[in-house]
Order: sequence, then C-alpha cells, then structure tokens
Amino acid sequence: MGKSLFWIALLRLLVTWWRTIQLSLKLGKGSGNLWCTFRGQPVGTVAAYDHDSEEILNYDQVFVRDFVPSALAFLMNGEPEIVKNFLLKTLHLQGWEKRIDHFEMGKGVMPASFKVVHNPIRKLDTLRADFGESAIGRVAPVDSGFWWIILLHAYTKSTGDLTLSETHECQQGMILILTLCLSEGFDTFPTLLCADGCSMIDRRMGIYGYPIEIQSLFFMALRCALTLLKQDAEGREFVERIVKRLHALSYHMRNNFWLDFQQLNNIYRYKTEEYSHTAVNKFNVIPDSIPEWLFDFMPTRGGYFVGNVSPARMDFRWFALGNCVAILSSLATPEQSLAIMDLIESRWEELVGEMPLKICYPAIESIEWRIETGCDPKNTSWSYHNGGSWPVLLWLLTAASIKTGQLHIARQAIDLAESRLPKDNWPEYYDGKFGRYIGKQARKMQTWSIAGYLVAKMMLEDPSLLGMISMEEDDQMKPLSKRSSSWTC
Ligand code: GLC
Repeated sequence: MGKSLFWIALLRLLVTWWRTIQLSLKLGKGSGNLWCTFRGQPVGTVAAYDHDSEEILNYDQVFVRDFVPSALAFLMNGEPEIVKNFLLKTLHLQGWEKRIDHFEMGKGVMPASFKVVHNPIRKLDTLRADFGESAIGRVAPVDSGFWWIILLHAYTKSTGDLTLSETHECQQGMILILTLCLSEGFDTFPTLLCADGCSMIDRRMGIYGYPIEIQSLFFMALRCALTLLKQDAEGREFVERIVKRLHALSYHMRNNFWLDFQQLNNIYRYKTEEYSHTAVNKFNVIPDSIPEWLFDFMPTRGGYFVGNVSPARMDFRWFALGNCVAILSSLATPEQSLAIMDLIESRWEELVGEMPLKICYPAIESIEWRIETGCDPKNTSWSYHNGGSWPVLLWLLTAASIKTGQLHIARQAIDLAESRLPKDNWPEYYDGKFGRYIGKQARKMQTWSIAGYLVAKMMLEDPSLLGMISMEEDDQMKPLSKRSSSWTC
C-alpha cells in the first residue's frame, strides 16, 4: 500500500513537471500570450499574463531584466532566434531620442521595457518603449544596459555565433553604454553612483548611492564587454579603460563592501574622524550605526557584500541579486564566493525560508520604512521589495551554488519552489518573514518566475550550461583579491 502511494505521488509529480515544461518552454508560444511578436517575429516575453488580475499596469510589456531568464531558457533549449531578435530590437530602441520634459537623456540608455502595439485596422505593429519617462519616479533603468551586454555575451557563448556581436551596431551599442558609465566626473570611488529605484528594485527602498546590485552587474558587464569588443582603434581605447576600472572596482568592492564576522568586529571597534591617508575607517562609519539585528545574523563562518557603502553610511542589508552576480562574475574571490554560500546555508530560515529567495534581508520597519520608502504601501515590511521572496532569484541561487560546488543548496531550494510554484500559479513574489504567503499584490503567471525555475532546473540537470552566464576569476585581478592591511589590524 505504502509503495503504491509512493508511485502515485511520483507519477503525479512527473506529470506536473512535464506539464510545467510544456507550458513554460513555449512560454505561451501557442496562445501568443506570454510570447510577444513584432511583425511576425518573436521579440521577447511579456512580464506577466495574469488572467485574474484586473489591472494590467505595465505587466503586458517586455522588460529587459525580466527577459534575461527567459532568454537563458531559450538558449539552453536551443532556440536562440528570439534572443537575437530581442537584442536587435532593444538596440534599435537605444537609438531613439530620449526626452523627459526638456531634458535629453544619454544616448546609451537602454529601455526598462517595451510594448508592441498592434493596429488591427492598418495591420501594423509599432513599438512603444519606456526609458524611465513613464516609470514610477521617472528613474532610468541603470541595469538594462548591463543586462543587455551580459545577454549578448551569453548568446555569443552559447551559439558560437560571433557575427551578431561583431556587427557595427552591436559594437556601437556597447560603446554607448560604456560611455555612460565610464565617463569621468567628481567620483572618488570606482563604483557607479545611482538614484533609488534604478534596478530590479524599481521603487524607493533606500538603495540610492552605490547599490550592490548595480555594482555587480556593472562589473560583469565590463568583463563581458572586454571579450566582445573588437580591437579596432575605438575598441582598444575602451578596452584600456575597462581594464583599469575593473582593477579599481574589484579592489574597492572586495575590501570595502565585504563583511564577515571579523570585519564586523573591526567596524564595531572603529575609531572615527580619522583625517589622513592612513585612516582605517576610510568612510568614517560610526559604530553606533551598526543595526542590532546584524550581531545575531552574522554567522561565525560566512560573509557577504553589504548593500551600499558611502561616506558615514554602510547599508548593512543583505541583497540576493548583487551577491549572486558577484559570484557568477568572479567579483567575489573564490573564498568570498564560498563564504556567501556559507552564509545562505547558515541563515537558511531567514533568507530562503519557505520560498527562495529573499530579495533583501531584513525588511525595514516603522519609522525607517516611513523615511526610506516614503510610506510606500506596496513595500510594507516583509512584502515585495522590502524583504519579500522572489522565485525568479532561484536561477541565480542555483547558478551560484553550481559555481561554488554547493549543489545541495540548489537542490533544496528547487525542491521548495517546486512544491508551491505550479500550485500557486507562478506568482511574482511571496510575503512574510519566511515567504509563506503569496504576495499581497503579486501577479500570477509571472514569466520570470516560470523562466527562473526552468533555468535552475536545466542547469542542475546539466551544470555545463552554467558556462553561458558564469565567468572564471581573471588572473590579472588575483593579487588584488587579498584584503587590505586595514583588515588585519
Ligand atoms: C516590478 C519589479 C521589476 C520588474 C517588473 C516587471 O516592477 O520590481 O523588477 O522588472 O515588475 O516584472
């Protein structure tokens, strides 16, 4: 009896799994819902197709960041055409003149999203893009350009087709993005200064300044561009600038953003107001600003890149995307990468709980929530961007687990996701300290929740697929991976 129940359960699981694959790999191809076409060609996937939701808002658009896991799923499934079309379409949009009121935005800015508008009378498709001018808060997506370069690299690596990245258009597209982020200004740090809401967290969440998500993506995009740029006069000039920036950026991040038990103890004992070149507490972080939760949260073994570092401000929150991308891009040294995974394992309940993975930890509450979010009702504590759990992050966690040889972490996370996602109809996010509840305003049939799961599953089955999105440590950067002398004091 027990045995037959087991087989029935297994059979059910296989059927659900098979259905999911069918449903998801087509990503709506048959019904034309999740799958978005422009003049007969597939060009991307819409953010969500939630039949039950009354408000569509902008979820019927193709978001650049949302398409990345879809694109990886297509590449892994041997369907590169849609990815190529997407890269070319967004490149074409980058060429648009971008204006907000009387201000013209930088040429390199890539859209956050675009929509195909179909005119049934003229039988014509046209495109409408959003560069931040209709986004909440009017913030341009800094991550879009980086994801675009990373995706071009993944496409080139997985297909072996160099003809796309070597076109004049693609080379120019990359150079325009790089021009935006390598330009000289008043910076004293190699990190990129950003406005709040310029990335996956696209509402005010107190991540203005130097958010880890953008710094990791910046680093990865620079490394991808380095391999994709042609060595002509213009390309060579950028290669030189990239190499310099990569050195400075990895040094700065590995030393000043890194936090583990030892470093926390150092900061706890910091002297302040050190005015000199030899200052240990370079950013004048006041020990009293260390939040209470961190002392218990920090395991003896493990560490992570903190959310933000700038004068007298260390945002000690843990952010998933930035830390996982730091592993994939080798911004984190091999030791730091393992330490990040160790921390996830030691703080499993807090960071994974019942649904992988917390977008950030912990949530901000009460007065802090009022100040940082501007009383945002969508970002209340343990909801949405404020400590919510996002299934899409599963692919990043899986990739990081494979890269660090911690496959058991990926397996456990996938098991958890599998037990709920199809049943709950692929929500956008979950709420609560442990991610137990379907998010308050979460869409169902959220494409990147489906795609993220598929990519995770495919990579776990064939870890060689990781090569598409992972970069080994660069020998040139090795000497800089050591901690600065200030760490050992
Ligand atoms: C939300 C998310 C953003 C995502 C968009 C579409 O605004 O914060 O990261 O791109 O939804 O899914």
